[in-house]
Amino acid sequence: MVASRIGVLGRGLLPAGEPVLRGDDLGVLRGDGLFETMHLRGGRPWLREQHLTRLRAGAATVELTLPADAALVELLDGVAAGWPAEVEGALRLVCTRGPAGGGPPTVYATLSEVTPAARQARRDGVSVATLSLGVPAEARPELGWLPVGIKSTSYGASTAARRWAARVGVDDVLWVSSDGYALEGPTANVVWLDGDTLCTVPARRTGILPGTTVAWLLAHAPEVGCVAAERMVTPAGLRDADGVWLTSSVRGLVEVRTLDGEPLPRTLRTSALQELLAFPLP
Ligand SMILES: Cc1ncc(COP(=O)(O)O)c(C=O)c1O
Repeated sequence: MVASRIGVLGRGLLPAGEPVLRGDDLGVLRGDGLFETMHLRGGRPWLREQHLTRLRAGAATVELTLPADAALVELLDGVAAGWPAEVEGALRLVCTRGPAGGGPPTVYATLSEVTPAARQARRDGVSVATLSLGVPAEARPELGWLPVGIKSTSYGASTAARRWAARVGVDDVLWVSSDGYALEGPTANVVWLDGDTLCTVPARRTGILPGTTVAWLLAHAPEVGCVAAERMVTPAGLRDADGVWLTSSVRGLVEVRTLDGEPLPRTLRTSALQELLAFPLP
């Protein structure tokens, strides 16, 4: 196991136990911050520019002043320097609003090995249960005031969903709107195959997180003989699909094997999609 690392903007790499945040940091007090998690492969963060672009879009939405990209890249490079190329890493960049009363944002990066559980899910797939989000699919973006599509450190709903999944004995959750549409998982987008069309849920229309992994996958769909589409889908529609997956930066692409206890038909496309994304299998 490679030891985890942490680096702080303006302070460099720190020993793992060194304090990083002040007690009055709004990231801690209010979950007021943004983050990105990247897949470190071959010692380099995959899709770094796409992650930084999403971070910057989120910062504009919540009026958070970020350091220049060059400073963020220098921080990431410093944390990743010397990491063994053959070891997959989860590289997280966190930007909080900083101390209450108006301090500069706190910006730091952590790097740790991808967990065996994440790697195993790529090979074995996951069991998923639907969970109501209690709002219509398009309600959140229509509000206007509510930040949507941002990767906020405020993950209360996601961690609650994960606890619920553990209680009911499934690996993951798929949030469903009150009008019956599948939206996303607490830490993943949903992807499904309809014939040769590789589909995902429209992020702008629903306010879900626009995933970097799914965007890359759909942009490269022709390489596996597919066309890409954004569509709304119900859980019943997913049960009729020719393959259902969850995608996210660190776990990559994992096949949904059961949905609400019902086995989904096995698809032959999982390995082609995983090869396309080039996530190592255990
Ligand atoms: C709510 C949510 N949706 C989707 C994703 C997948 O996004 P990405 O592929 O950029 O990791 C994540 C990632 O953590 C997420 O938290």
